[in-house]
Amino acid sequence: MTTKEIRKHIEMLVDESTGQTLQETNAIKHIGIDPEKNVVVLIIAVGRTGGEQEKKLRRELAKIIKIDLGFAGVKLQIEEKRKIESIVNRNVKFIIISSGKGGVGKSTVAANLAYALTRLGKKVALVDADIYGSSIPKILEMQHRYPNASEDGKILPFEAYGMEIISTEFFAEIGKPIIWRGAMLNSMMNNFFYEVKWNKNIDYMIIDSPPGTGDIALDLRTIIPTADVLIVTTPHLAASHVAIKAGYAAKQLGHSILGVIENMSYYLNPVNKQKDFLFGSGGGEAVAEKLETEVVSQIPINQPLHHLGLYELDEEIGKIYNDLAELILYKTQ
Ligand SMILES: Nc1ncnc2c1ncn2[C@@H]1O[C@H](COP(=O)(O)OP(=O)(O)O)[C@@H](O)[C@H]1O
Ligand SMILES: [Mg+2]
Repeated sequence: MTTKEIRKHIEMLVDESTGQTLQETNAIKHIGIDPEKNVVVLIIAVGRTGGEQEKKLRRELAKIIKIDLGFAGVKLQIEEKRKIESIVNRNVKFIIISSGKGGVGKSTVAANLAYALTRLGKKVALVDADIYGSSIPKILEMQHRYPNASEDGKILPFEAYGMEIISTEFFAEIGKPIIWRGAMLNSMMNNFFYEVKWNKNIDYMIIDSPPGTGDIALDLRTIIPTADVLIVTTPHLAASHVAIKAGYAAKQLGHSILGVIENMSYYLNPVNKQKDFLFGSGGGEAVAEKLETEVVSQIPINQPLHHLGLYELDEEIGKIYNDLAELILYKTQ
């Protein structure tokens, strides 16, 4: 008995959650035979798991494999199709940009790191999950539009500067703040990972998460199996204090910390080329020490020359983001 023959015997079964046969929905994801134990291993993707529909399908599959085909047993894994095909199951590196406080430059760092990785030839998805202060569309000077749907009913992300972007703001009414309640928030995050038709070749997904240690951090952990975290802080001691808390929270959730980015670290005096530490110094170092990691970048204060929020390679900060992106490539390879 070959896997091909097994397929023939089961592919006409109907997944009642879609009303179509397993063949029609390309639901049979894996068939394996364990010859020693005489057991068949099946992974089936259905429209919806749970309930009577799933039980019935399980019974039908077990009957065919064990009674009709005479195997000793069947190891059956039934999953929701959208979950199997989600970006979560692809070979993508997830990087969460986190901070304790708002206003430290978290979104600016997320957008510029994504842009720098793109310049280095990586295909990058940028997710604006900061529901309290969504600002990625502004930083990238994107107009507010509702996302389009693909033919198969998925959400199409927008493209800007070679990156793919999705933001909570695209789903809000123009000019109106959104107050996301727990359940809505959860389903929005699920949608970003399961319902968006991300490019097949995404290498990195950069996630601009809300500041602090709130609910969203938890939600992400249930969606993404493994993610690395970059903590953004300023040299201010007040900022570094809360950044340490955010770092502990990330660690507690089982994320690994890639490093600390000290933003608005100093001002490079154009006249004497000296670094002016306007906001004091040592904040980044203090956070890194507490979290047993390192400062991976110190980004000075300066306005971008060419865009609203993105820095190019002919600017000091653009070069610093490039160095950071190279370090991230190295650390996540
Ligand atoms: N290195 C920097 N130099 C100058 N301005 C910066 C720098 N980083 C961020 N900003 C500015 O600071 C403000 C807050 O940045 P933002 O990225 O929105 O912070 P957050 O996401 O942490 O709330 C924005 O106006 C941004 O343009
Ligand atoms: Mg922000």
